[in-house]
Amino acid sequence: MDVKRFIEEKIEEIKATAGSEKTISALSGGVDSSTCTVLAHRAIGDNLKVIFIDDGLMREDEPREVKDIFARLGIEVEVTDAQDEFIDVLRGKIDPEEKRKAFRNAFYTVFGQEVLRSQARFLVQGTIAADVIETKGGVKTQHNILEQIGIDPEKGYGFRVIEPLKELFKHEVREVARELGLPEGIHQRMPFPGPGLATRIIGEVTPERVMQVRKATRIVEEEIESFKPFQAFAVLLSDKGTGIEEGKRKFGDIIIVRSVESKDAMTAEPTEVPWKNLRKIAERITSEIPEVVRVAYEITSKPPATIEYI
Ligand code: XMP
Repeated sequence: MDVKRFIEEKIEEIKATAGSEKTISALSGGVDSSTCTVLAHRAIGDNLKVIFIDDGLMREDEPREVKDIFARLGIEVEVTDAQDEFIDVLRGKIDPEEKRKAFRNAFYTVFGQEVLRSQARFLVQGTIAADVIETKGGVKTQHNILEQIGIDPEKGYGFRVIEPLKELFKHEVREVARELGLPEGIHQRMPFPGPGLATRIIGEVTPERVMQVRKATRIVEEEIESFKPFQAFAVLLSDKGTGIEEGKRKFGDIIIVRSVESKDAMTAEPTEVPWKNLRKIAERITSEIPEVVRVAYEITSKPPATIEYI
């Protein structure tokens, strides 16, 4: 692929489509939404409104980091603080699919409000070729966000969707991202699920439990980063186990460490992390997160397991 030519062509296409109309982009900080945001900004400048929905389920410092990265590229990101909305809808939910559904509904509600408030006529979306294929195959339902938030672009709202990356595969998007000057932290970013840390919490999602899994995730990422895994993270179980704190028995939390190698996330193998690194992760998690008394390393492939826990 001629990356430079692709970029020039897409910028011209977006210019021709959006003209001087307002366009909105929902940035997640992932490589797809970051890349199409930069492309659209190059095409239409300040007529692009970039929003980042802070659902409170991101990794440590993620909303601030994403905002800073884009500020350095001259792109202003408006952060919508929706943490309370997400925690509210997740409260009391234990069933994985119910949690996913609650997350999805909250996302569409918040995003729908922002789209309508923005008075934008176009929505730029980071759909990539795999999304289109998986939507057609029935694996994903995320292809057209506007329709899912009850806004039918054909019927009266006057919205149109721009999908500049729809012919590209992930590795090509990464090349475009690099060429556009996005930092390595974005163009080589590990996949991170839409419902965020909620996919790594078994049982109820509460602010305290999110904080725990967030701290553990940072430790896992720091200690496994040098192995360049496809994905590495921590999971908080709802089961507990006995440990010892200051000479007394304590029934505490259990963290699972998951690190996998994969090309397309359809199949995955556990990363062969050396014993000494695993031991260090266990020591750090139990000492830096006092609620946790046990740490285990997960060694299941996908299939039969999935990568995430819900
Ligand atoms: P699983 O857990 O199904 O995940 O093996 C496969 C890949 O997809 C990511 N994932 C998601 N990505 N929204 C996303 O954008 C989601 O709801 C979601 N669920 C899982 C996961 O991190 C892995 O890379």
